Amino acid sequence: MNFFQYQDNELYAEQVPIKEIADKVGTPVYIYSYNTLLRHFRAVDEAFAPLDHLVCFAVKANSNLAILSSLAQAGAGMDIVSGGELYRALCAGVAPDKIVYAGVGKTALEMEYALKSGVLLFNVESQAELQALNQLAGSLGLKARVALRVNPDVDPQTHPYISTGLKKNKFGISINQAIEEYKVAAELKNIQVAGVHKHIGSQITETGPFVDGLKKIVELIKQLRAIGIDIEYLNLGGGLGITYNGETPPSPENFARAIMPLINELGGCKVILEPGRVVAGNAGILVARVIYKKTTPAKGFVIVDAGMNDLIRPSLYNAYHKIVPVHKAERPEVEVDVVGPICESGDFLAQQRVLPEFREGELLAILSAGSYGFSMSSNYNSRPRAAEVLVRDDKYYVIRRRESYETLIQGESIPPFLQS
Ligand code: LLP
Repeated sequence: MNFFQYQDNELYAEQVPIKEIADKVGTPVYIYSYNTLLRHFRAVDEAFAPLDHLVCFAVKANSNLAILSSLAQAGAGMDIVSGGELYRALCAGVAPDKIVYAGVGKTALEMEYALKSGVLLFNVESQAELQALNQLAGSLGLKARVALRVNPDVDPQTHPYISTGLKKNKFGISINQAIEEYKVAAELKNIQVAGVHKHIGSQITETGPFVDGLKKIVELIKQLRAIGIDIEYLNLGGGLGITYNGETPPSPENFARAIMPLINELGGCKVILEPGRVVAGNAGILVARVIYKKTTPAKGFVIVDAGMNDLIRPSLYNAYHKIVPVHKAERPEVEVDVVGPICESGDFLAQQRVLPEFREGELLAILSAGSYGFSMSSNYNSRPRAAEVLVRDDKYYVIRRRESYETLIQGESIPPFLQS
């Protein structure tokens, strides 16, 4: 359920016509619905209400300060994977003791920043990282609270690029080596072993993989406790899928219902969740304008002013995003490719899609773009990144202004030997 709906054939975000925003702010533009975002966050939060829990939004899904601040004020913590994300979370007013820090390649500088900030937990992904963190914490006179990220080797049945819980993936510590790794961690002076972390992949549309993975983790926690290693936090990661095109992922409530009995077996673990996509994905759309139409002997193209630099998911994962007109009208349907202006054949938003026959100059909306949309965008082809707008009820706010040509070259310089 989201608040992008038609009223009299005009697409609205909450009570604001999309056309009004596009005309004032320009295109391409990401538009988010505050009430949808909060609704999705609360659905996860409330599903786990029976447990002592913390919902840490995965900042990588959408890292705009206004989005983070909206969620933080509703009680969310944050799941971060870099110093930059930590900086953003702190700027958005997130309490450090609600921040968990994952990632296979944390640098010393990043770990120092996180230690000094007082983050709740480091999700440690290797023995080498554990040793480095121990040393660093010691040199700062601090103790690092740690959850080891354990890879349970289950198949999340999702796109290979976003599956992380298989033994061939680079993530986490193998479940078969976990006990040994925990024993080492427990001996380190500046490490406080506090939890277990798992995250098996993203856009998962069945409860099965979550349940299978968790069963293995619950067994592990029991074994750890039996040898005197106390586990206070169970971090379940993220990964719950959304509907892009008819998928029927479990609702947060059903997801919680499926795994709660397993968690209850542990009696008294604090649960952490790291949802990204399910919170922000359907709370955002990308709005673009048709620049040209073109028909070759092979196919029809609709060329729009948003490209793979704005939304890379179709090019990178062959991901499906629904495309709809901002103004609905009676007209024939045609099969087309919707493409951007980038100089790459891989620059498409939809391929061989049957869509209403768009006109030049018309606005269209690419749906389900609130997660991994703007946050994965780039300046490729020296395209200024899109503006971002947050709508709440009948008002809208520009939460990131469109980049200018000046911002494109910010920080670049021509060395003296090239200046005559
Ligand atoms: N926790 C960890 C440790 C993660 O690596 C991720 C996502 C999440 C939580 C959040 O997962 P979510 O609830 O959003 O599925 N760019 C890809 C998705 C990459 C996900 C990476 N990790 C896409 O556009 O589909």
